[in-house]
Amino acid sequence: MKAAVLREQGKPRPYVETQPLAIEEVDLDGPAEGEILVEIAAAGLCHSDLSTIEGIRPRPIPAVLGHEAAGIVRVVGPGVSELKVDDHVVMVFVMSCGVCPDCHGGRPNLCGSSIAAKAKGELVAGGRRLHLAGTDINHAAGISCFAEYAVVDQRSVVKVPDDVPLEDAAVFGCAVITGVGAVLNTAGVPEGASVAVFGLGGVGLNAVMAGAIAGAHPLIAVDVHDEKLALACSLGASHAIHAGSPTALDDIKDLTGGGVQFAFDMAGTVKALEMAYACLRTGGVLTSAGLAPADAEFALKPYEMVSRELRVQGSYMGSCTPSHDLPKYLDYYRQGRLPVDRLRSGTLGLDEINLGFDRLSDGQVVRQILKP
Ligand SMILES: NC(=O)c1ccc[n+]([C@@H]2O[C@H](COP(=O)([O-])OP(=O)(O)OC[C@H]3O[C@@H](n4cnc5c(N)ncnc54)[C@H](O)[C@@H]3O)[C@@H](O)[C@H]2O)c1
Ligand SMILES: [Zn+2]
Ligand SMILES: [Zn+2]
Repeated sequence: MKAAVLREQGKPRPYVETQPLAIEEVDLDGPAEGEILVEIAAAGLCHSDLSTIEGIRPRPIPAVLGHEAAGIVRVVGPGVSELKVDDHVVMVFVMSCGVCPDCHGGRPNLCGSSIAAKAKGELVAGGRRLHLAGTDINHAAGISCFAEYAVVDQRSVVKVPDDVPLEDAAVFGCAVITGVGAVLNTAGVPEGASVAVFGLGGVGLNAVMAGAIAGAHPLIAVDVHDEKLALACSLGASHAIHAGSPTALDDIKDLTGGGVQFAFDMAGTVKALEMAYACLRTGGVLTSAGLAPADAEFALKPYEMVSRELRVQGSYMGSCTPSHDLPKYLDYYRQGRLPVDRLRSGTLGLDEINLGFDRLSDGQVVRQILKP
């Protein structure tokens, strides 16, 4: 099958010229015990893939990237009982083993087995199903969906009803679960709370839509791109603030009588994280789903944090249990409260993938959908 293979991290831009992702004919093993083979119908280009290409987080390479996708089950391996051929599925980037201390402790999104396999570039059962000229190719997040097909653990997918277009379903696997989950699960924003969302990509705009679902007010959207601020307002934000404005912080404080109760960093930069922390009111909570470079540091004054009772927390995969939360989020989508199709910035073929990452890096697009 055809797949986009990353052989070297940190290649310079423009990617259309340096081609960090090479379209190769690779071999894919059939599914082992507990695994399925999925034909990929649609895959989203997420900033986490871009960060892997940039090399700001070291990952095992060569690898087939991609962790946000939907597709159709074509082959089920031995021991698979809950899924059958022709089922439509969405992929999730942390599968839950159900037996490790994290899964047992009610934190399936932090499953230790899944995270250990991901760090090695393997599937959770061990080993790799992808090969090129006799060499093993690493998996990305147990998924590797920038390809025509993927072999994944059965616990890496959630079934979706057949009437949901697969290009919409795909973004539920990362942008939706991360952005909506951060607001509704990790932070648990109550009705009427003041919220500011920093970074309006696929993740941040889902956080904005979730803020509207929660009934947040004011619901302030912050980015450095005017088109994204306008889009956020049309998706439910009550106010838009340009992060580059010298009065941005004062403006947020003015809108909220001194600061927000809940701030979200969905940009993945220390600058956004610092600004999100600085705009908290006393008793406020900063939730970050943004993934800054692995060696970045974020400084805060402990005295201020304690005396103002500020909280800072990470949010990984929206603190979600996918089998429980995704059907709920699909209901919001059906009700028109989570119009993820409005985040789509065009579709791409596999051979246009490097161009897609140039565009994502430029910041002009939200979710580009790859149709391998
Ligand atoms: N925690 C998780 O589970 C998880 C899951 C998926 C993605 N992520 C991370 O979330 C982040 C967002 O992902 P995405 O795909 O939406 O990215 P994206 O590139 O589509 O969006 C990021 C947005 O942040 C904006 N931005 C940059 N600097 C800013 C600043 N100082 N203030 C305000 N906005 C600023 C950009 O203009 C852009 O619109 C990335 O760091 C990604 O790696 C985390
Ligand atoms: Zn992602
Ligand atoms: Zn586990």
